[in-house]
Amino acid sequence: MSFNKRSINVKYDGIKKRDLAIIDGKSLLEILLAAKIEINNSCGGQASCGTCKVKLVESNDVIHPINELEAEYFQYRQRDKNIRLACQVFPKSSLSIEVPDQNLPK
Ligand code: FES
Repeated sequence: MSFNKRSINVKYDGIKKRDLAIIDGKSLLEILLAAKIEINNSCGGQASCGTCKVKLVESNDVIHPINELEAEYFQYRQRDKNIRLACQVFPKSSLSIEVPDQNLPK
């Protein structure tokens, strides 16, 4: 898979795909919401609800490791290593993600 320069390839709602520009200093959650991809975020980005989980499909760089808040959230929960909280991921380089259906509003 090839990436456009510093973009986020997003698959959501089953078949929809979009390429979003990375915005420095903004979380993945903020970037998705700014693009009108209405991913759930019940706690407003405080890493406590888990409703903003996304799956990292492919990244052309090592995304930063989970931070203290994200580690605290996953401390007693089972986590696939590719699952991250969108509110705690701050993309710096291109990546590809999927938003699980259960994390989109019904
Ligand atoms: S918005 Fe609640 S954990 Fe990310």
